[in-house]
Amino acid sequence: MSRVVARGPGRVNLIGEHTDYNDGLALPFAIDRGVTVTAEPLPHGDRIEARALDVGEADAFDLEGVGGDSVASGWRAFVRGTVAELRAAGHAVRPCRLTIEGDLPLGSGLSSSAALEAALCLALLEDDDVDRVELAKLCSRVENDHVGARTGLLDQLAVLCGEEGHALRIDFRDLAIEPVPLDLGAWRLVTLESGASHEHAGGGYNERRAECAAACEALGIASLRDATSTEGLPAPLDRRVRHVLSENARVDAMAEALAAGDLQRAGALLRESHESLRDDYEASVPEVERAVAALEDAGAAGARMVGGGFGGSVLALFPPGATPPDGSVSVAPGPAARRL
Ligand code: GLA
Repeated sequence: MSRVVARGPGRVNLIGEHTDYNDGLALPFAIDRGVTVTAEPLPHGDRIEARALDVGEADAFDLEGVGGDSVASGWRAFVRGTVAELRAAGHAVRPCRLTIEGDLPLGSGLSSSAALEAALCLALLEDDDVDRVELAKLCSRVENDHVGARTGLLDQLAVLCGEEGHALRIDFRDLAIEPVPLDLGAWRLVTLESGASHEHAGGGYNERRAECAAACEALGIASLRDATSTEGLPAPLDRRVRHVLSENARVDAMAEALAAGDLQRAGALLRESHESLRDDYEASVPEVERAVAALEDAGAAGARMVGGGFGGSVLALFPPGATPPDGSVSVAPGPAARRL
């Protein structure tokens, strides 16, 4: 293996939040910002050495037995977990020096974690011609089993299967992926960081997943995709299910609005999604509400939190001529994770 440089993009989810682990629908896309991993072979030994340039930290570990420990946390857990899962899936991982750098801050809600996992896999694999859906599942196991975040497959599929100029309509029931052209004309999408960092392994995310599982049990169904109403559910499970049902419907409504070029309607759907996440799913925090208000005050047709919530970034759709607030960054669908 010679030196390999791989890039993992972050993602923005246009709509369809907290639906992936409920066998529902989402419409994400990969973005330009992301994480780059360089792998340089080490001539001797049986170790991985890793440096995370942005945080000025390093790690080193033996290939043998990696992943069996529970001491690693933060970015180290992602590196060790990815190496462990690649080996468990039968991929040979050579001793190497990994250098990690990027322009997607951890905790920004644009999936720096999936960007890192994807870039690590493509840098470490001997042959990168692998099934991308299987690779997404492998990355998801890194989060679930090594980082302790019970996240779904949304981020990994967006990052590994994204297409330039398109969002992906993903049906999580059968993992069918359909590219949807994201043609915004003179309109533009921006993200704005709320200032509240979010972390999946702690806090509300895992709690919401547990509530969805409890709702399934109460309704006697295998997944919320099979739910037809919230009847009979105690609060707050009824509100959680109402969000999932209405959000699935908004994904298809968004695909229709985009096909019709009705961007005003697309903006209204973003607003409705945010209201549902705030009121029914209770996944917002004051910093996120302030960011949404700033974007709407600046003339956004709609704005909503993206990703797991409880912090992170807000996405907004602006009509031609409007000026997004300071700190906003334009986002557009870029290519999937790849070797450079
Ligand atoms: C995070 C998770 C995803 C998904 C979203 C919410 O980004 O990683 O799997 O559940 O939150 O839609």
